[in-house]
Amino acid sequence: MNDKQSLPGVQDVMTRDVISITSDLTVRQAKELMRDKGISGMPVVDRENALLGVISVADIIQAMENNNLNAFISEVMTVNPVFLHEQDTVGHALNACRRYGFGRFPVINEQSKVVGILTTSDIVTRLAQLLRIDQVDEPEEKKEPKDFTTQTYECSIQSMNFDLAGVAASNIKKMLTELGLEGTIIRRAAIAAYDAEMNVVIHAHEGKLSAKVTPHDITIIVEDSGPGIEDVSLAMQPGYSTASDRIREMGFGAGMGLPNIKKSADELAIESSPKGTTLVIKIFID
Ligand SMILES: Nc1ncnc2c1ncn2[C@@H]1O[C@H](COP(=O)(O)OP(=O)(O)O)[C@@H](O)[C@H]1O
Ligand SMILES: [Mg+2]
Repeated sequence: MNDKQSLPGVQDVMTRDVISITSDLTVRQAKELMRDKGISGMPVVDRENALLGVISVADIIQAMENNNLNAFISEVMTVNPVFLHEQDTVGHALNACRRYGFGRFPVINEQSKVVGILTTSDIVTRLAQLLRIDQVDEPEEKKEPKDFTTQTYECSIQSMNFDLAGVAASNIKKMLTELGLEGTIIRRAAIAAYDAEMNVVIHAHEGKLSAKVTPHDITIIVEDSGPGIEDVSLAMQPGYSTASDRIREMGFGAGMGLPNIKKSADELAIESSPKGTTLVIKIFID
């Protein structure tokens, strides 16, 4: 299986309802449009909807300071803005967000026409939805749990690689579904695996997820090579997060990962030191 292809693309998560403006209007008109729509920036396009630049609140404030509200947008907009192609992966988009430090990108098609806008804070929720981590279809034919022998799965997890983030959890979900396990069990395992995997992506150096499924239980072990959790009981508190502003802008860092893992698991053991963190997640099947 090609893991990358199983992940959604920019065109799956972007907003198609773009508010844009043509460059031959005035800064004052841009200001009014942004105020009416409650937005802080928008793509600037030509009459054929091709991307020319972006205009933001900062550009408008600057123009106001220069007494320049009657200027054409083309005179104050940011030219050569960073944009995305509709065929780009979501991982590429998240990396662009991290690199450039802003959370909104125009999306263009092959003809350079603006077809959408991508806000990185939307991506994360939609990413989990698109991977369908917490949606489980009941298996069509329910197998007796004893029908299978012990299954194992292993996957490496790379720090800050948003192209692969979620793949391990998604593969575990697939494996459990194929084994014919009950929907609620699959859902709990997928959520716990996803949050543990994302914690390595966001907070840790590289790591590894391994899973073992017997007819009686599921064991998911997620280990990484540091920097460790300073205070595990504090980290377990709902809402506690050390995620940077940048990471929060991307939609992570709600501080609910460890509490969700705890809630989803029948047993959870966490060991952490500066050398690394290991989570052992157990879910009982019978
Ligand atoms: N694998 C890890 N390595 C280092 N720190 C971690 C790891 N997992 C969790 N943490 C720490 O625990 C905190 C809480 O984690 P979590 O509940 O998942 O919230 P969030 O990931 O949204 O910050 C994180 O902000 C981070 O400080
Ligand atoms: Mg987390």
